[in-house]
Formats: sequence, structure tokens, C-alpha cells
Amino acid sequence: MAKYVVVGGRKLEGRVAVGGAKNAALKHMAAALLGDGTTTLSNVPNIEDVKTMAEVLARLGMAVEFTDHQVTITPGSTLHNEAPYELVRRMRASVIVLGPLVARLGAARVALPGGCNIGSRKIDLHIAGLEALGTRITVGHGYIEAETDGLCGTNIFLDFPSVGATENLLMAACLAKGRTLIENAAREPEIADLADFLNQMGARISGAGTSEIEIEGVSKLSGAEHHVIPDRIEAGTFMTAAAISRGHVVLEGARAENLGMIIAKLRECGVEVETIDGRIIVDATRNKLHGIDISTLPYPGFATDMQPQFMALLATAKGTSFMTENVFESRFMFVDELIRMGADIRTEDHQARIKGVPRLSGAPVRAPDLRAGAALVIAGLSADGITEIGDIHHIDRGYEGFDEKLRSLGAEISRVGEKETNHLTAVG
Ligand code: UD1
Repeated sequence: MAKYVVVGGRKLEGRVAVGGAKNAALKHMAAALLGDGTTTLSNVPNIEDVKTMAEVLARLGMAVEFTDHQVTITPGSTLHNEAPYELVRRMRASVIVLGPLVARLGAARVALPGGCNIGSRKIDLHIAGLEALGTRITVGHGYIEAETDGLCGTNIFLDFPSVGATENLLMAACLAKGRTLIENAAREPEIADLADFLNQMGARISGAGTSEIEIEGVSKLSGAEHHVIPDRIEAGTFMTAAAISRGHVVLEGARAENLGMIIAKLRECGVEVETIDGRIIVDATRNKLHGIDISTLPYPGFATDMQPQFMALLATAKGTSFMTENVFESRFMFVDELIRMGADIRTEDHQARIKGVPRLSGAPVRAPDLRAGAALVIAGLSADGITEIGDIHHIDRGYEGFDEKLRSLGAEISRVGEKETNHLTAVG
């Protein structure tokens, strides 16, 4: 079983390059199902989730090549419409092929993704939206079966700005007849990037990145070339790692405009953050860090995917902090692991009260999911002694060369044991 062994106490210093966004690349790959020709995506991170999505697409009849951060996807002569459980359970985001398959083939059979370690993760909004677009959906025996005689544009109001539902409906609506308006759409930068890519394929989308997206349906889309936006969560993770180690790190290739709330919260707790010429400089060497309050919210609010990393940081900041998790119902499961490392955290329902301690203490812990795994590594960087993080296949899902990048900044971290990727339920 692979694990990370971290010796705490090194200040991170130096430069680190941020890769392409996992949560954009996966959706762009699914969008390739809509196009008639070859799609080439660059700046694609070399992570396990991308490999899983490549497998999903191959199973659907697409030819997929993945080399050197570039994915080339070409539709085969026959496309299949079933995404099986063995792949969907490995990566919940596989459900994103539902909209493109229905739009392209008129039918889809996709395994129900089910819940995961951070919450029940319903897909009712995906289903209701596809039904509104003219799809007949039945759910049973662990599968969603969808069929249409032709999608028709309509007005859809999402009860909650779900990222995945917005993307599924956005993609389906591209090939629907007439105009679709998605109201209360999610505004994440990855959605704006997906719309840019779809427009390059020939779609007619406006308003992506705002809460009202308008899609004028077209009869066909072609393949396209696209450079994936930088990963704001990877960027935020390294910023938090710099802060918890009380170090000084320069991020290259990140987009500060997509990191507004993360930068604001780091500054609020005493970290100096500057953005100069496309670089983000994080300096935690000068000020004492102090507790702050954070509530996770859909973008542009504070990202739930940064909640665990900030929880680790605040566990070492002087005074009391409150963290409120509003997006996923059970995203505090990793807290017990932080407590084993000496953190003083109490949780009740959606809220955690964190009292900063002068130093965490290294301990053996297990990564329960992707971002919590990254948070435990970060906690280990500042802890007294050695932290061993198990179940790091979760971290491999979303971070390329996490340990290498941290080592290049001076962290003492090594990867030990065999790599395990394939057989546990995935989240993220
Ligand atoms: C995406 C991201 C994930 C991030 C999340 C929120 C990917 C691959 N994953 O996940 O990293 O944490 O956005 O920023 O892009 N919900 C419903 N009904 C639905 C859909 C969602 O009730 O039909 C609820 C979910 O249970 C959850 C909340 O809405 O509590 C947010 O989910 P959503 O925005 O859909 O997240 P994902 O697209 O799954």
C-alpha cells in the first residue's frame, strides 16, 4: 500500500508550476463525445481521474491517446451508450457523459454514481433538467436510462447551482432544437472554460461564468483544440502548504482572478499574497497567523474543495476559527485524523470550531478522499515529527506529482510502497 512519509518542520521555499484543471479537463473530455471530428486538449494533468475518463470514453467507442499533457480524442465508427458501474464507481464525475450521450446518440445508460465520503451527492437536478429538455428517464437496478426522440431547448431553473448539473445540461442543450436558458447556473471558472471549448466546437453559448447561461442549439458540432485552464484548487493547495509551513512560495501559471476568495482568506489570517506578472507570491514568513471564519459556498464563494486544506492551516493559527461547510453534508470526516495529529477541533453538524495549537504532532493517518488527503499531507509539513499518510490513491486522483512538487519546494516527503489506484470508490 503506497503512503507518503512526511517529516515536518521544513519551510517551503521556491517556485512551483500549476497544472491544468482536473475539473475542467474531465468535462472537456466528455464534451468530445458531442463532436464529429478529432478533439485535442492540451494542459491536461497526468492524474488518475483523467486516465479513468479516458477509459470511460474508450468504452463508449472513442479512440483516446494521452501523452505529455495532451489528450487526443476521435470518435470511432460505432459509439456505445453505456457507462458501466465499474468505471463510474471509480470516478463519480463519469456521470458527466450522460448529457453528451443523450444529445449525441438519443439514448444513454449510465451507472448511478451513489454517495461518497463527502456526502450523498444526488443527481436529481441533472435528471430534472434532462427531462425538461425532452428526455425520458428511468432509474432502476443501479442505472439511469435516458432516451429522447430529439432534445428541445427550454428554460431550466436549478434549485441549487450544481456544477455537474450545469455542465451536463449545458452540453446536452448544445445539440437541442432551439434556445435553452439555464438559470441559477453554477459560475465556476471551469464552466466558462467548458463553454469556450464548446463554442470552439461550433456551439452557441453565452453567459457561461454567470448564473444565466443561454444556449442556442445547433445541429452538429465538430472536434476542436483547446488549452485547459490552470487548476485553481491545486494552486490553492500549494498556497496553503506555503502558509502552513510559514514559507515563501511563488506560483507560476495560476490565474489569480479565479482565486479571489482563497487569496482574501489567506490575507485575512495574516499571510501576505501578491500577484505580479502572472505569478502569485505567498509569504508567510513575517506575520503571525491568526484564526478566521470561513463558509464554503458555490463560486465565487469559498470553494468547498479548499475547506480541508484551510482546516489544517487554521489548526495551526493562533486563536479560534469557525469553518462552516455549506456545499457537502459530510465533509468533516477527515477531522478525526487531524485531531489525531493534535488539532483542537470540534464539529457539530455543518460547523467546526478550530482552536489553533502551537504545533501539530506527526502521526499515522489515512486519506479519506482527495482534498482531505492533500490536507493531511499539508498538516504533516508543519507537524512535529513524522506523519505517514495512507490511502494516497485518493491523492493520485487529482494531483500530478504532488510529492515531487513539494520536494522541489524543500519539503521532506517520500512516497513509499506500491501504487494502488484501481479498486476503491472515488470522490471529488
Ligand atoms: C464538482 C467538483 C467537486 C466540487 C463540487 C462543488 C468535479 C469533477 N467535481 O462536483 O470537486 O467539490 O463541484 O464545487 O467537477 N446536488 C444535488 N442534486 C444534484 C446535484 C448536486 O442536490 O442533482 C448537491 C450535491 O449533493 C452537493 C451539492 O449539490 O451537496 C454540490 O454538488 P455539485 O455542485 O453538483 O458538485 P459536483 O458537480 O458533483
